Amino acid sequence: MASPTRTARLQAEDHRHLWHPFTQQREWEQEPPLIIERGRGVYLEDTDGHRYLDGVSSLWVNLHGHRKGELDRALVAQLKKIAHSTLLGLANVPSIELARRLVALAPRGLTRVFYSDDGSTAVEVALKMAYQYWQLRGGPDTSKTRFLHLGQAYHGDTLGAVSVGGIPLFHERFKPLLFSTYEAHAPYCYRCPLDLTYPKCRVACADAVEDVLTQHHQSIAALVVEPMLLAAGGMITMPPGYLSKLRRLCTRYRVLLIADEVATGFGRTGRMFACEHEGVKPDLMTVSKGLTGGYLPLAATLTTERIYRAFLGRYEEFKTFFHGHSYTGNPLGCAVALANLDIFARERTLRQLQSKIAALRRLLRPLGEHPHVGDIRQLGFLVGIELVRDRATKQPYLLIERIGMGVAAEARRLGLIIRPLGNVIVLMPPLSTTMKELRQMVEIVTTAIRAVTSASTPG
Ligand SMILES: Cc1ncc(COP(=O)(O)O)c(C=O)c1O
Repeated sequence: MASPTRTARLQAEDHRHLWHPFTQQREWEQEPPLIIERGRGVYLEDTDGHRYLDGVSSLWVNLHGHRKGELDRALVAQLKKIAHSTLLGLANVPSIELARRLVALAPRGLTRVFYSDDGSTAVEVALKMAYQYWQLRGGPDTSKTRFLHLGQAYHGDTLGAVSVGGIPLFHERFKPLLFSTYEAHAPYCYRCPLDLTYPKCRVACADAVEDVLTQHHQSIAALVVEPMLLAAGGMITMPPGYLSKLRRLCTRYRVLLIADEVATGFGRTGRMFACEHEGVKPDLMTVSKGLTGGYLPLAATLTTERIYRAFLGRYEEFKTFFHGHSYTGNPLGCAVALANLDIFARERTLRQLQSKIAALRRLLRPLGEHPHVGDIRQLGFLVGIELVRDRATKQPYLLIERIGMGVAAEARRLGLIIRPLGNVIVLMPPLSTTMKELRQMVEIVTTAIRAVTSASTPG
């Protein structure tokens, strides 16, 4: 265990040299940071030996827990062969084996795998592929240069991904740098923009997408969507039938469907991929986060043979997809991803998960009665608890009240790491979380919500 002086030194050096993502550094510098040094199972351990439950899977990436033996061993075994070799002009063993496995698992029709480094780059690849596909087809299809996305969408932080984002707080400032897109409102049932109830709303929400497609399909290359659940936008679950309707619309209007499974892929929703809930076969699919079980940054964009073939030609036709990254197809990442998929098969992760998903729903139910809980949204092991000032009117808390941040701080004091999205408390446990650990997590979240909302209620 480290001495407190070591922790203090590290904290001071963090303050002096680091710039943390999505963080107001002025405030960060005023508080000593919690520094994680170890992890085991669903627990994180700081430099002073204090343990915390990892309630957000280390930002939505971890699946089977930390220090998972098989994953550790797969990395070491690969390390003894080679850490990295490029895919530009060469092939490597783990990237080939992983591509075959991914194709076998993915929705039918996705037969080609293009590797990149993280969710954002996987989305960039999908956007550029979709765009170039229509350019290569030639004729009137060359006018298909634009993208359609949903409000509240989040697809990453690189500029292409930000262009197809729909979260004003994150994306608005960069507008002058972005390409213009079409946006249809999100199917945010709790705060229905049309004031309708299910199932009418499902039709109306999809109508909003269809309206854009009817008017502009000649100029739209692809619809980009987070299947079944808009994650960073507030864990917004889609009404049943909505995603499959989008698929049908894309087919009807000759618009490619890009399913961004970066957050939802690899079991998080209770199925291997969220598209499976409605039997949807996208034209392009992006994966990252859980791909390596949360061990290393690796991503892939999968696509169909039809799209792949459009890029084939004589060298001098320059139909080539001119895109790639230094670490594309990194053997360490691919080796650990293969071991991750092996665990799914050997431990029957998805089957084991089903009863835990049901238990999580049961555990959360009492929280639904709390006067400041407006909505609990759950899809598999993805949970968003929307806190409101007034349950009857759904009046939200102001962002500057920092209710979500307050709950996360209180949860941390009680031994659980979570990270909110504004007023939405996110709980996203690793798939390996036991019933006992789930119960502990929900108990802490409940206690923290009670403490913080009662302190914030006037009178
Ligand atoms: C749906 C979705 N797409 C893309 C991304 C971006 O992934 P990354 O942070 O690895 O770039 C995220 C990240 O949360 C995401 O949720």
